[in-house]
Amino acid sequence: MQLKKTINVHDDVAEIIFNEQQIQERVKELALKISNDYIGKQVTLVPILKGAAIFFGDLLKNITIPISLDFMMVSSYKNTLSSGFVCVELDLRETAENKNILIVEDIIDTGITVDCVYERIKLQKPKSIKICSLLDKPSRRRKIINIDYFGFEVQDKFVVGYGADFNEIYRNLPYISVLKNEIYEEKEF
Ligand code: IMP
Ligand code: MG
Repeated sequence: MQLKKTINVHDDVAEIIFNEQQIQERVKELALKISNDYIGKQVTLVPILKGAAIFFGDLLKNITIPISLDFMMVSSYKNTLSSGFVCVELDLRETAENKNILIVEDIIDTGITVDCVYERIKLQKPKSIKICSLLDKPSRRRKIINIDYFGFEVQDKFVVGYGADFNEIYRNLPYISVLKNEIYEEKEF
């Protein structure tokens, strides 16, 4: 079957769940809270690539305390389904030992990904570890996760945009949205 080619990613969107302004306002609130909570402390932000990249970039610019960065890249999704297995594609460059680590995620869904990252970092004996996620999808949780900072709660829908992808596409949408049904159906096997 010949798939319809997407010319403009915005055309594939069925519904905007959180628009640019809502996201930017919420990101500023989270950054202010983080800046206050860590005042006088050094914090290392660890975004989980690729999904957290856009949120992380905006969050970072609004944090006012000194911070350092490290990165992790993990994968677990195929189409719209979590495989349940987390593959670490890129690990921390520097040790987390004795540091205040803030994991930055785009979405916490089953919780399997962030739980795996958390436990992996914990092995390095950091001073503290906290979790910040733009979106919280609690309905499908399989692990108990304490999310220290979250932007918005979302229903059990597969969302894209602002870093979140469907088959690696749609990360560049500046808002959080749901795609038209036929897009998910066309590309699922
Ligand atoms: P979890 O392991 O089920 O909690 O899934 C976490 C990861 O899957 C997140 O880091 C997201 O990148 C991705 N993910 C979960 N739900 C969605 C979604 O609705 N859209 C796009 N990516 C998602
Ligand atoms: Mg992710």
